[in-house]
Amino acid sequence: MVVEGAVTLNVDGAFYNPRMRLNRDVGVAMARALEVTDYLDALAASGARGLRVAKEAGVSSVALNDVSPRAVALIKENARLNGREGCEILSSNANVLLHQRHFEAVDLDPFGSPAPFIAAAARSAQSYLFITATDTAPLCGAHLKSGIRKYMAVPVKAEHHREMGARILLGAVARELARVDKGMRPLLTHASDHYVRTYLGVERGAKSADRTLESMGYIEQCRSCGLWRTVLGMGCRSSGECSFCGGRADMAGPLWLGPIQDRGVIEKALAAMEGSAAQSDRGIKILQLCKDEIDLPMYYDQHRLCRKFKATPGTAEDLVQGLQSLGWRASRTHFSGVGIKTDAPIEVLRGLLSTL
Ligand SMILES: C[S@@+](CC[C@H](N)C(=O)[O-])C[C@H]1O[C@@H](n2cnc3c(N)ncnc32)[C@H](O)[C@@H]1O
Ligand SMILES: [Zn+2]
Repeated sequence: MVVEGAVTLNVDGAFYNPRMRLNRDVGVAMARALEVTDYLDALAASGARGLRVAKEAGVSSVALNDVSPRAVALIKENARLNGREGCEILSSNANVLLHQRHFEAVDLDPFGSPAPFIAAAARSAQSYLFITATDTAPLCGAHLKSGIRKYMAVPVKAEHHREMGARILLGAVARELARVDKGMRPLLTHASDHYVRTYLGVERGAKSADRTLESMGYIEQCRSCGLWRTVLGMGCRSSGECSFCGGRADMAGPLWLGPIQDRGVIEKALAAMEGSAAQSDRGIKILQLCKDEIDLPMYYDQHRLCRKFKATPGTAEDLVQGLQSLGWRASRTHFSGVGIKTDAPIEVLRGLLSTL
């Protein structure tokens, strides 16, 4: 028996991962912030996530589904244990269920890659799609071929590989939504531990789909100095050369280049989390960092910059403040403790690092 948030659960090792608690805490806060009323935990295992959403986020209509009979027995027991007999408990293959029924919010939290479920979830989700991906090695380029098979995108190895992985996932979801004439608006995206988690608003209509695809593109990344530029559009045009050092440049993508956080929604999630059973220091910290991230793809690794420009590393905060005082946009990023997001050109960073 474990207690997590406001629920008590009878657990079975295979179906409950205590290390995903943070992921569920944030999920509960987001469901509350978005005032979700109809929610499907498509891969529910012990029911921890869906039951918490029912109890803590006050979502009135919650369905929990799992293909495993053992998991379904566990979910039924846990629903009873928490007075949530009103939840609907289903034992379908998630892909069949998602093709049969629409849900306002669909949550995909699989073992490993969500790729096999994205198409069906894109069809089912009417307003929200929440996705966890624990296959960070394929997403970030460590398992290149697997990533290409799952997401039909090519990552490049770089310091900002965590964000690249998140954007490759978002790009794959954007394309699946577009196929069924839907668009998306990312509300919160975080990479924590060994997973990426994203909360997407889903918008119906071909126009939304077209607008969504306008945020697709590529990252051209220099092999030698690491400088990158974004190339918007679905056609892949590479100069092959870095504009800063002349080194060879690789293309990564297609991937999502649009915003990945929604400050207003994240503020509501913070308010929902504070003082609630889902509160944790880490949860609050991640939400705060995500809220304050500037809306630009990718980030510099402060240590790599310092090595490259032979500067002594100060704090990331000093560098952010230095950039801001020069009039540039700059922020830390939750993706890395030494990551700096900024619209300042690399020359500005070089100049600043030599004075800090
Ligand atoms: C990582 S667990 C889910 C954890 C849960 N969401 C949580 O937060 O506690 C993934 C679950 O997906 C189930 N599953 C795998 N393939 C499935 C499918 N095609 N349809 C429905 N459930 C499936 C497994 O039985 C397993 O219980
Ligand atoms: Zn270069």
